Amino acid sequence: MTGLSIDNLSMRFELPNGGAVQALENVSLDLKEGELLSVLGPSGCGKTTLLNIVAGFLAPTGGKLMLNGKQITGPDAERGMVFQQGALFEWMSVRDNVSFGPRMAGKPASDYNSEVDNLLDIVGLQDFKEKMVYELSGGMQQRVALARCLANEPDVILMDEPLGALDALTREKMQSLVLKLWKETGKTIILITHSVEEALLLGERLIVMAPRPGRIHTEYQLPFAELGVGADLREVKKHPEFNPRREEILSMIWDMEEEIMGRTETGS
Ligand SMILES: Nc1ncnc2c1ncn2[C@@H]1O[C@H](COP(=O)(O)OP(=O)(O)OP(=O)(O)O)[C@@H](O)[C@H]1O
Ligand SMILES: [Mg+2]
Repeated sequence: MTGLSIDNLSMRFELPNGGAVQALENVSLDLKEGELLSVLGPSGCGKTTLLNIVAGFLAPTGGKLMLNGKQITGPDAERGMVFQQGALFEWMSVRDNVSFGPRMAGKPASDYNSEVDNLLDIVGLQDFKEKMVYELSGGMQQRVALARCLANEPDVILMDEPLGALDALTREKMQSLVLKLWKETGKTIILITHSVEEALLLGERLIVMAPRPGRIHTEYQLPFAELGVGADLREVKKHPEFNPRREEILSMIWDMEEEIMGRTETGS
């Protein structure tokens, strides 16, 4: 069986003061191989927790996760993570960052050199491969992070706000790049974002999560990611369904935030 299966997942954090946080409750989700899922939801609804569990960094307190028929019990190169920023080796060149995984796996350079070049080409960094990471702009650094993740040949790519720290124009270019990588590599991708527009553009499937306890609130199947491959994303946003979806999801999240504020104000 291929794909990722998340079955009845729960995560409860016990706090030092004796309290507890139910970060996730009964989250179930099946992702087919090659699916592109975006995840939205108010702060604290468990998005990062969900991703960390799929990555194997955290063990859930309930439920089961399977990837390609095998239970997930810890981190593994089959699941690659791209963070918001800061996860690169600043003192290494672009090329050494991207080849880090294969080198650590003990592969000889002749095995991975051409693939590293190919990945640097795909992310548009062929001319920068000998530069040190600290010499690059934020957008370029995120492209290195994407290439480094792909060099490990993961089946699933997990991204937690990968474009959140970028300026608007760079972010737009990176959104196109994520779509291109998705199509060219056929990887399964889960992408967390705070931007409703980004979630609509980069999710052929989109889930909105709700907090306290963290759970899946609403799910959409969307045409925009497919339409956006190799296209101008500003044109995609003119699609007649785009704005109504955007407004609907914005109000949904707005209502959740209001509810949280209300509860906080009344001290419950
Ligand atoms: N290690 C931990 N110990 C205790 N509580 C935690 C821990 N990690 C997360 N939590 C709590 O679990 C809930 C979900 O946190 P999580 O970081 O997954 O939210 P998020 O949706 O990623 O939020 P944001 O959008 O702000 O990144 C929050 O209430 C958070 O305080
Ligand atoms: Mg988070």
